[in-house]
Amino acid sequence: MTRTTTPDTKGAPEMSETFDLNGIDYVEFWVGNARQSAYFYEHAFGFTPVAYCGPETGIRDRASYVLEQGEIRFVFTSAIVPDHPIAEHHALHGDGVHDVALGVPDVDAAWAIATSRGATGAYEPRSASDDDGQVRLAGINTYGETIHTLIDRSGYDGAFLPGYEALPQPAAGERAGIGLRFVDHVVGNTEDMNPWVDFYERVLGFSELAHFTDSDITTEYSALMSKVVQNGDGRVKFPINEPATGKRKSQIEEYLEAYRGAGVQHIALLTDDIIRTVDELHRRGVRFLETPDSYYDAAEERVGQIDEQWADLRRTGVLVDRDDEGYLLQIFTKPVQDRPTVFYEIIQRKGSRGFGEGNFKALFEAIEREQALRGNL
Ligand code: FE2
Repeated sequence: MTRTTTPDTKGAPEMSETFDLNGIDYVEFWVGNARQSAYFYEHAFGFTPVAYCGPETGIRDRASYVLEQGEIRFVFTSAIVPDHPIAEHHALHGDGVHDVALGVPDVDAAWAIATSRGATGAYEPRSASDDDGQVRLAGINTYGETIHTLIDRSGYDGAFLPGYEALPQPAAGERAGIGLRFVDHVVGNTEDMNPWVDFYERVLGFSELAHFTDSDITTEYSALMSKVVQNGDGRVKFPINEPATGKRKSQIEEYLEAYRGAGVQHIALLTDDIIRTVDELHRRGVRFLETPDSYYDAAEERVGQIDEQWADLRRTGVLVDRDDEGYLLQIFTKPVQDRPTVFYEIIQRKGSRGFGEGNFKALFEAIEREQALRGNL
């Protein structure tokens, strides 16, 4: 069953107070087997497990593993009983993102502002505490069944949240990871992006950064439309996609069918050395979309002088794009679960604040080759 939701922001008061955000606090995935997901992110993506809750810590119905790298914090949670909202979510959507949690300085104020402007609550403000202090949390709904927890952990010293047990930490040198520093952006696929662009603007005080129309991103078979919203200091960037009319099924439509509705499409993770990071990911078995060699012949001409060696880009499959402010390097993984839903982008910025618009066509052609292999084109 596909659930279609649209936010109701009609009648919301005009922006009068700023809605401060401290960035993305964590991303929580609801998955079929959290233990194995944690193993994948530890060994393939170089994350360090930091906290756990489950039967051993007195939680009877689920298990959660918290992993970190740089400022990135991922949580993988599975139900361990059959009749459970997480089990139902997993049955419908497969492995996917449940919560993109946002740090806020004042949860109650943020909740009050958001709900007064038309956000619907996922859960009401509450406190959680243990010997390490107290956190305050509330949740609001966004596209599909995805939520934003609003969290203030300034009064908390523990590993993640009350109820979680800290895991033994490796020596500092062994916690180095593979160079992933923070979440650059989180992209949502929706049936209709404009109500959600409006939601982020009117409810969370974001502003629209840029948009791409289907004339920019059209291939022979499919197209998308995308708009990007970001918060005041640009730390939180959410591109939002919708399908555009193509000759065949677009990759956004394929996602919406496979995920049974709107949800997170990809998470972009920033590195300062993309060649090293992608070499490590390749070595650890992460699979990327393949870049046709001919892409680089055109790219050298299109992009001009860069600090990196073109031979390294060709070897790793990293894409490059330039705009007025500089350039960026990026590469996209294949979906990381059996459904063609969530994937990752690895990105390095050399002055550009864009999203690789010039690469969209090359990317889409690569994605469509994959789609054709699945018989969905
Ligand atoms: Fe992206």
